[in-house]
Amino acid sequence: MSSQIDHLLDETRRFPPSQEFAASAVAQPELYQHAHADRDAFWGEQSRELLHWHKPFTRVLDWSTPPFAKWFDDGELNVAYNCLDRHVEAGNGDRVAILWEGEPGDTRRITYAELTEEVKRVANVLEGYGVTAGDRVAIYLPMIPEAVASMLAVARLGAVHSVVFGGFSADSLRSRIDDAGAKVVITADGGYRKGRVSALKPAVDQALSDRGDGEQQTVEHVLVVKRGENEVDWTEGRDHWWHNAVPAASAEHEARAFPAENPLFILYTSGTTGKPKGILHTSGGYLTQAAYTHRNVFDLKPETDVFWCTADIGWVTGHTYVTYGPLANGATQVLYEGTPDAPHPGRWWEIIEKYGVTIFYTAPTAIRSFMKIGRSVPRKFDLSSIRLLGSVGEPINPEAWMWYREVIGGGNAPIVDTWWQTETGAIMVSPLPGITATKPGSAQVPLPGITIDVVDEAGEEVGNGNGGLLVITEPWPSMLRGIWGDPERYKETYWDKFEKQGYYFAGDGARLDEDGDLWLLGRVDDVMNVSGHRLSTAEIESSLVAHEATAEAAVVGASDETTGQAVVAFVIIKESYLSAHDAAGLATQLRQWVGEQIGAIARPRDVYIVGELPKTRSGKIMRRLLRDVAEGREVGDTTTLADTAVMSIISAQVK
Ligand code: WT7
Repeated sequence: MSSQIDHLLDETRRFPPSQEFAASAVAQPELYQHAHADRDAFWGEQSRELLHWHKPFTRVLDWSTPPFAKWFDDGELNVAYNCLDRHVEAGNGDRVAILWEGEPGDTRRITYAELTEEVKRVANVLEGYGVTAGDRVAIYLPMIPEAVASMLAVARLGAVHSVVFGGFSADSLRSRIDDAGAKVVITADGGYRKGRVSALKPAVDQALSDRGDGEQQTVEHVLVVKRGENEVDWTEGRDHWWHNAVPAASAEHEARAFPAENPLFILYTSGTTGKPKGILHTSGGYLTQAAYTHRNVFDLKPETDVFWCTADIGWVTGHTYVTYGPLANGATQVLYEGTPDAPHPGRWWEIIEKYGVTIFYTAPTAIRSFMKIGRSVPRKFDLSSIRLLGSVGEPINPEAWMWYREVIGGGNAPIVDTWWQTETGAIMVSPLPGITATKPGSAQVPLPGITIDVVDEAGEEVGNGNGGLLVITEPWPSMLRGIWGDPERYKETYWDKFEKQGYYFAGDGARLDEDGDLWLLGRVDDVMNVSGHRLSTAEIESSLVAHEATAEAAVVGASDETTGQAVVAFVIIKESYLSAHDAAGLATQLRQWVGEQIGAIARPRDVYIVGELPKTRSGKIMRRLLRDVAEGREVGDTTTLADTAVMSIISAQVK
């Protein structure tokens, strides 16, 4: 790893924006100066400029009880009104909000006026189910316009959505519904993936069924979109078809104002323990930074741009750069239901050509998989509408960066490599496209208004040319407000490490180069990043040991050419199981098991059945050594192992 990093830091190529781009860019150099002069005043100005406040705030930040921040605290707003009604009232009702493309090729164009009306109806339906401010609604939908409408309808009521990625299993859905205590679930019969309908409703039925004694079931209503035309089971009284309920509801609905700190959503993400964390975001600060970053980082010109963020709404990128940022800014965007390669490998490029996409935001893992297929596929399409490219989710290697620039960006579109997290709510570190001379592989600089540093274990600045831990040194508007139901875990996970300094610990390693630009080096905790998705080693380990065959399991993230990291599991099988069962095919079974337990994204690339795991004298598994094996490297220093012979045995078993 370290030689690779040194190589990265030798990167000398620089790509300044063209004069033309710089001159007409939304973000001009003064933005840094304004933010620097008075940070609170800057955020106050941004918020007033970008959003409509039903009741203006008089105070920007209350940081009197850290780490619990309050932003724009005495102000009131309605998030959905900001994303919808106000654009219609300003005369932009006919502007297209969503250019939707279904995987089989069916399409819908939805204007701001139409989306506003739809959201009002859905809000009325939900109110009819008794949803009021503060109630939780789970959303488990494919990438269809109803997903965006559902989020906004929940927001309109001051209620809290918890979107669960459609790829998660019934078990994962159940634990999220239960943790949040959701009152309503919005789902679909299914959605299209790789040319087939992938069912969703059965997972909801399963998540809401067979509970043990004393396990409270909180869901009263399930609203079901018909998308896949697949057969579904039906629970009378609980289940309602969207196409019956929504059109029958009134199209009148007043957007009431809610306090700035009213919770907006919970989004679960993997941490270092087996239990996912419900990251809580609130309204005014979140929407301010969503709109601010979407406008400045992507240089948005809402009248002319066609924006496309390829993320699923089940992830934070989909929350902030599909639903809230673009709609708060009155942008026109593409929403695509399916996979990049269905029905053919040029599907994404075909969509860019078809809709004239000007700003394209995706993940390095996708770029690398297109690189593998080769440039002949994108070359068949006219991508000349593209004027800006974005990357998110994991470090982008310079080779992929250059390919992205040349093949997709026509050699001149600036690339913004955006670093942020579910917890930060919105982009924190990124070049500004009209200002920064970009460097392949580096996310570079904190945005105006954001303060980032790289420190050592003691919290001391490492300075240029050195590596350490990435911290955020001052609160920011879209910061998480906590972990749902667990304030202690919130403090412990993010704030205890640098309590003295009052820094937020992001969990990422980073280096500052000689110019002071940031290079992200990946997680420093037991969290993996697979295709830009965060997975916990502990969560997958506990799923593996829940299988009857497994005695012990250790999971590591091994570097992978396409997915960044891949899940690799080392499993010890119980003697008793081996004596009664045939072990052939067990590795495959265990892979499938994890897929069913958590979701397909968590399925290990490799499962190695081994006799022992490397442990220290105190019994801690040395994952570093397993990673050496998984990556096919010489095994590192084994002197702290309780039994130093164990690694050669494991290496032999893996071969
Ligand atoms: C983790 C957050 C933020 C949306 C998608 C992931 C990694 C994210 C970058 C980037 C290097 C990145 C970090 C971070 N990450 N963006 N541009 N360069 N690493 O959200 O699931 O909350 O994961 O993704 O390790 O901590 P998430």
